Amino acid sequence: MNIEALARPEILAMKPYQSARNSAAADGILLNANEAPHALLEQSPSETPLNRYPPPQPEALRDRMAEIYGVDAAQVLVTRGSDEGIDLLVRVFCRPGVDSIIECPPCFGMYRVAAGIQDAGIISVSRDDNLRIDFDALAETVTDSHDAKLVFLTSPNNPSGDTIDRADLKRVIGAVGERALLILDEAYIEFCDADSAAGLVRDCPNLVVLRTLSKAWAAAGLRCGTVIASPAIIGLLQRVMAPYPLSAPAIDMALACTGETARVKQQRMMDELERQKSRLLALVESLPWVRQCWPGEANFILLKVDDADRLVAHCADHGVRIRNFSSNPGLESCVRLSIGSATEMDTLQDSLLSWNSTI
Ligand SMILES: Cc1ncc(COP(=O)(O)O)c(C=O)c1O
Repeated sequence: MNIEALARPEILAMKPYQSARNSAAADGILLNANEAPHALLEQSPSETPLNRYPPPQPEALRDRMAEIYGVDAAQVLVTRGSDEGIDLLVRVFCRPGVDSIIECPPCFGMYRVAAGIQDAGIISVSRDDNLRIDFDALAETVTDSHDAKLVFLTSPNNPSGDTIDRADLKRVIGAVGERALLILDEAYIEFCDADSAAGLVRDCPNLVVLRTLSKAWAAAGLRCGTVIASPAIIGLLQRVMAPYPLSAPAIDMALACTGETARVKQQRMMDELERQKSRLLALVESLPWVRQCWPGEANFILLKVDDADRLVAHCADHGVRIRNFSSNPGLESCVRLSIGSATEMDTLQDSLLSWNSTI
């Protein structure tokens, strides 16, 4: 597959910025980046002293991401959250005013925001009343939309929590063919039983998988995501990426957050979240004002309720913030509740039990 034929010609034609750190080794006396000779902090919080620019794609971090996601380091690009991966993909592949993305709303809002910023078109394949994707309609739209360059799918989806099975995924990969890329956002995949599709990237050059440390690795504050794709796609994204995307402290923290100790704690956290989710689902079943519940397979649930605006305000009065999706097409009267700690869920429970939708 000729990936370059899909990219914007301007991106191929331009000469990418050559930073000091990617054009020379970072050893010896460093007088090539206008840095300060010493850090002002006595103790540097990071491996790379703060007076130095960090490595653009640190080998240790790329290797770690490759290890936890079961892929080759050459298929990995570490980004400032998946948000940056989404943005880079749209900027590299969608010509403003010409190309489009395809999405299946309701889904994560950044796909359309990134497309809007790039002046790319947005083709929506809506879900059914139960928020499931119609894969026949999606495959047909993919085949018919000649200006679509990126097809965004999310598994598990935010906010409906549904997953895409392997047969449906392969069908869309087949429909996309060589005309576009399928971007599979797996931000919540660790919460569900299904396997990641990252291993398919080697045999499917039109597949890109997005992973993040923000959810199951409990590190949203780090801003660390990973694009898993063929080296050809990674190379194109690097042409437009900022020269030093990851700060030195963030690089060290990302390694610490995915190290041995963190993995033991992660398992405990995942078990606890599963228990709290079951408890919340049992509570929800007893609430007369819940009209529909999408338990999904991630660390949140989606509810259709009698009066979403008032419920959100009521929970806020109890100090609990839940997300109101009522104004999103297809999600009228819907709220999304993240699964928190046992004590947070105690407060949420009090707040839900004291809500009377008819007052
Ligand atoms: C489906 C999905 N993808 C990506 C993201 C963003 O992830 P990150 O924090 O890595 O930018 C989110 C955040 O909520 C999400 O729900």
